[in-house]
Amino acid sequence: MSNWSAKNPYDSKITECYVLNGKGSKKETRHIVFDLGDSGLDYKVGDALGVLPENPPHIVEELIEIQGWDRDHTVTTHKGEKDLYTALKKDFEVHQANKKFVQSLANKVVSSGMNISMSIVKRSRNGVDWNAEEEGDLPPGLTTSMPSDDPTSQVKAILSDAKEIENYIWTRDYVDIMSEFSVKYSPEEFLELVDRLKPRLYSIASSHDAHPGFVELTVGIVRFNYHDRQRGGITTQYMADEVVVNETPVGVFMSPTKSFILPEDKDTDIIMVGPGTGIAPFRAFMEQRVHDKATGKNWLFFGDQSEKTEYYYKDEIEGWMDSGDLYRFTTAWSRDQEEKVYVQHRLKEHGAEVWEWFEKGAYFYICGDKTYMAKDVHRALIEIAIEHGGMSEADATHFIEQTMMREQKRYLRDVY
Ligand SMILES: Cc1cc2nc3c(=O)[nH]c(=O)nc-3n(C[C@H](O)[C@H](O)[C@H](O)COP(=O)(O)OP(=O)(O)OC[C@H]3O[C@@H](n4cnc5c(N)ncnc54)[C@H](O)[C@@H]3O)c2cc1C
Ligand SMILES: NC(=O)c1ccc[n+]([C@@H]2O[C@H](COP(=O)([O-])OP(=O)(O)OC[C@H]3O[C@@H](n4cnc5c(N)ncnc54)[C@H](OP(=O)(O)O)[C@@H]3O)[C@@H](O)[C@H]2O)c1
Repeated sequence: MSNWSAKNPYDSKITECYVLNGKGSKKETRHIVFDLGDSGLDYKVGDALGVLPENPPHIVEELIEIQGWDRDHTVTTHKGEKDLYTALKKDFEVHQANKKFVQSLANKVVSSGMNISMSIVKRSRNGVDWNAEEEGDLPPGLTTSMPSDDPTSQVKAILSDAKEIENYIWTRDYVDIMSEFSVKYSPEEFLELVDRLKPRLYSIASSHDAHPGFVELTVGIVRFNYHDRQRGGITTQYMADEVVVNETPVGVFMSPTKSFILPEDKDTDIIMVGPGTGIAPFRAFMEQRVHDKATGKNWLFFGDQSEKTEYYYKDEIEGWMDSGDLYRFTTAWSRDQEEKVYVQHRLKEHGAEVWEWFEKGAYFYICGDKTYMAKDVHRALIEIAIEHGGMSEADATHFIEQTMMREQKRYLRDVY
């Protein structure tokens, strides 16, 4: 047993970090392999890996520059005494602004007495995507009802309700806001306001039996661009852009699951629904079922934008189909035709067979997007129970949510 945790992560090295998408894809999904070295870390399929990121160096540099801070200034953080650069890079999340900081503008802007029109002119000269010299052309996030030359009123408008604050910070980071309002903070003041850095979890995409000493992930890199500045997710950008393969130590720990597990009885059939990065745990499940010589049938539903560019793990999947380990592979390529085709549409098309599997005790797994996909798949299951199980809406809902999910624990979810 090892004692590695979020507070005491193991310094692993990434040994592989390659893009799974084909040329011309709109996405950047990577296969990332971590070496567990002498950590003693173990895992089972279904578990997640915790990864501790660092902020992009250019953002830390920009912050220090815009505030005129001394990078070697000593500060004390929740992780001890260190120089300001290291504290900003490793101990806090400085890549995205938080509400607390925006709320602090109320006092800052009044006390600084700055005139926002100064910063408006400066930003437009810097080539930002709006032009203050054109009448009525306001910075994104500021509505035309705000007087453009009064920073106090502008801050008031932003702070007027939670939605306004959310809209405002959606496209801005600290550097944007500091330059927009020309506000200055001491390092200590700033560190009091920003969020402590948190690890991110990733569903493990490998079986430890198949890859002893390594743990593998399927990661969608989060990138977007606002006001001509490239930005994105702290952890995914760190792994994709900054970590040097076989060199940079990356803090990791295991986050074991109690519920998202394979059936104990290896004869049990399983249905896995994992579009996009949701495929991760199911690659691990397949590796484990093959290693265990499980006799239960495996049916995988996978989908993403296009077969040409998003058919992740194609060789492995085709290998499992050829060997008979993958009994069924059903795809939903959403953008390969006019109409959107999603995994729930495929589930319903195969509703009669899905229902037969359920009646024979199959487990049902779902992984990936929680907000839309998982809800739609859940609804599709209820509709399958109505159509093929001959149930009323209430009975079907009870069967899916109560019987399968809560009592029999054979409808299992890993959604995020
Ligand atoms: C149990 C679990 C398992 C997971 N498994 C996986 C997995 O296998 N693979 C995987 O890729 N992810 C997985 N995730 C998600 C993962 O943990 C991270 O949330 C994800 O990688 C983003 O992290 P980040 O640090 O790069 O981004 P963050 O710095 O956390 O930023 C993400 C945030 O950026 C903001 N954002 C995103 N797009 C935009 C935009 N266009 N404009 C403005 N803001 C935007 C949103 O607020 C979003 O919440 C899992 C999550 C959980 C909880
Ligand atoms: N909470 C977090 O921190 C966090 C962080 C990162 C990602 N995520 C979520 O994780 C998900 C995984 O991202 P990903 O890039 O791997 O895949 P994805 O964006 O979920 O896309 C995978 C496939 O699902 C399709 N899809 C879109 N809406 C759907 C719906 N309602 N029902 C079923 N399928 C649907 C997509 O089609 P189209 O694109 O053609 O519509 C695509 O073909 C994202 O949706 C994202 O929201 C969450």
